[in-house]
Amino acid sequence: MNDTPKIPGSQRRVPKPEGLNPPVGSPAAGDPPAPNHSETNPVGPRLNVDDWERAARSRLSDMAYGYYVSGSDDEITLRENRSAFSRMFLRYRVLRDVSRRDLGTTVLGHELPFPLMVAPSAFHQLATPEGEVATAGAASEHGTIMILSTLSNRAVEDVVAASQHPVWFQLYIYKDREITGALVDRVVAAGCKAIVLTVDAPKLGRRERDMRTGFHLPEGIRMENFLPDDYRSLPQEQGESGLASYAADLLDPSIQWSDLEWLVQRAPVPVLVKGIVHPDDAVLALKHGAKGIVVSNHGGRQLDTSIPSIQALSEVRRAVSGHSCQDGSLPVVLMDGGVRRGTDILKAVALGADAVLVGRPILWGLAVEGREGASKVLSLLHQEFDLAMALAGCRCLDEVTEDLLAFEKPAHKV
Ligand code: GLV
Repeated sequence: MNDTPKIPGSQRRVPKPEGLNPPVGSPAAGDPPAPNHSETNPVGPRLNVDDWERAARSRLSDMAYGYYVSGSDDEITLRENRSAFSRMFLRYRVLRDVSRRDLGTTVLGHELPFPLMVAPSAFHQLATPEGEVATAGAASEHGTIMILSTLSNRAVEDVVAASQHPVWFQLYIYKDREITGALVDRVVAAGCKAIVLTVDAPKLGRRERDMRTGFHLPEGIRMENFLPDDYRSLPQEQGESGLASYAADLLDPSIQWSDLEWLVQRAPVPVLVKGIVHPDDAVLALKHGAKGIVVSNHGGRQLDTSIPSIQALSEVRRAVSGHSCQDGSLPVVLMDGGVRRGTDILKAVALGADAVLVGRPILWGLAVEGREGASKVLSLLHQEFDLAMALAGCRCLDEVTEDLLAFEKPAHKV
């Protein structure tokens, strides 16, 4: 049994000081292609997240599906977020009596039944009429935290009311600081328990799929959390992404570390910073008042060819492990990007994540069956993670340690 000590207050293990930096080299030439469940299971049961995606694709408009699924430029990071997981291997343990397992963890004082939360993603009414209210209901059924996007369609008050568990709010900083400040005040008054500041989007990444479809919000779908009308809808321009135009007009590309300090002063709830991949930035975020980091490249939608999130995670965790937050607490470290399987969650926890965030899988569930679909996707990931824990010989998250990971394919002897 592994007896790695717990860090008081953070529920995390101390990562090993030296060591692993997962290589993300390309698969060897001649490797058989990975199975693509989206193509091989046209009408069968939805057994995995890819099956849900395939079902969602047939229900969504090309514009909505293209928006949700897309990455920037050549979508290299989008793909690598996933394939980096498949180049990590599990050195599982045996004969450990895994008949009982505790998958629980604690994030900012909230107990999660397993280390997964709902990532912020925009415009849930493109998937289901209930929009983010459905998402909150599903997250609540599973006892987990939902992070509501600035670009949400439903009013934050309704979303918070739909959940028995904490809702956090993802924030973009607008050029108009009064509008940004008013939004922060509103979401805090509505009951959001933390703010997650996105810092990887001083400008929107170039998403060619959205340019091709002229991405915009259909009639009747708006961003309800803003007061001024020009902030509530996206422009419709031929051959352009409406979101790209909206972001270029309204979001502030000049944000810097002092803006994080401004937010920390303004918000009476913890602030986390999302979109960090460089270890030095992680340390700076803590110095400027953040209570946590979300290691993320925005689902491959911002700077293409940026490092896959799971690779950045180990570097960031190691960098912050000697640091505390301004108030002396230990920082929360979350990650998103490419999590589609229970084994992915296991690998992220082994590399030091307190929890992972999932975005697109929730959207696929919403698109197929609304709240129930999102809930089924969460159940699926919960079951997959539970099985992965048992098969890896882990009875609790403290036993999910870095030594379980191997980063190179075993050499084939002839
Ligand atoms: C919104 O945050 C997006 O990436 O489209």
